[in-house]
Amino acid sequence: MKYAFITFAIVMMAAALSSSSNSHVGASPRRLIKRAMTIAQCFKISGTTPGRGFQAVSSITLGALDLDFSDPDPLKITLSSPDMKVGVIPGLPVPITGARQNVILVDKGVEIATFNTPWVPGVMNGNVLETTVGSTTLNVNYANQDQFSAFIASLTTNPAHTFTLKGTVDVNFTLTLPFSVRTITIDGIYFESDVTLKGFSNFPGIQFVELIEKTENADKSFTIKSKVNIKSASQLSVKMGDVRFNTFDAVSSEPIGVTTLEQLNLVPGDNFIIAVTTSTSATTNPHDIFTRVSKNGEKFRLKGFAASSATDTILGNGIAAVETTVDIPILDKAA
Ligand SMILES: *[C@@H]1O[C@H](CO)[C@@H](O)[C@H](O)[C@H]1NC(C)=O
Repeated sequence: MKYAFITFAIVMMAAALSSSSNSHVGASPRRLIKRAMTIAQCFKISGTTPGRGFQAVSSITLGALDLDFSDPDPLKITLSSPDMKVGVIPGLPVPITGARQNVILVDKGVEIATFNTPWVPGVMNGNVLETTVGSTTLNVNYANQDQFSAFIASLTTNPAHTFTLKGTVDVNFTLTLPFSVRTITIDGIYFESDVTLKGFSNFPGIQFVELIEKTENADKSFTIKSKVNIKSASQLSVKMGDVRFNTFDAVSSEPIGVTTLEQLNLVPGDNFIIAVTTSTSATTNPHDIFTRVSKNGEKFRLKGFAASSATDTILGNGIAAVETTVDIPILDKAA
């Protein structure tokens, strides 16, 4: 009830302010600024206490999200989003020109990471603030890194994942006075909204493109290096670095070795990646396998494990849940 009242009060003030250019031509600039500041004050007072302020933000959608795990510190991930749409309550009075945010990423009720965005321009399109999130550091909450890995696992293995962004947003808006245009900043508007992103669905479409080279060594260990295409329907762009998967025969589950997807940087659409499969000490019959794959082809099953990322434990724990297959065709083409 209180929120409804505050919303009503803002809408009324908004109406008063927006009509100022015609019906209050005679009002002094000082009075108009004072009125604008009253609106700003109302946002601020009601908006600074997370969880208790009124909600000026009704929805957040991310057209895309870029995550970069290549920093040597696993707790530091670089995040950006070229296309963020913040839906605000109807009647928000003002032409917003820019915004910055202090954001907490919440997944399954746990605060797993935070990020702050610098000031960026934004435009209001109806009740939607269209803005971007420039390159910024996503700080993983040290105590909740397992939950962050679970968040990555969910985005990697599911067609979609819903989480929550909450925090505060500061906005600039312009106030047109009879003889000048002022920029006013309202800071600390609380927001909280669910966000759904399309995930990688366990990489369903790994296609073998071509063999680059294959080698069998004197000790019968082997290497098969090929180019694959990972088609991504996700909205995520992710730089993961080298990622390793335990590799098995998909039918018999016989261990084949380890496949490294080199510099696994995924963007929406086609991703041509070098895949190197090598036998390991777990490969019981390397010569048989090498011959079989060369002459008959084989379906490989790739499974993540905790050390899938050699450099990033948080990412590795996230990828551990991934399981997918790739069809290897006959590698020895008839002459
Ligand atoms: C918003 O206003 C602040 C001053 O309050 C200024 O420092 C900042 O550059 C402005 N940002 C934009 C995008 O207009």
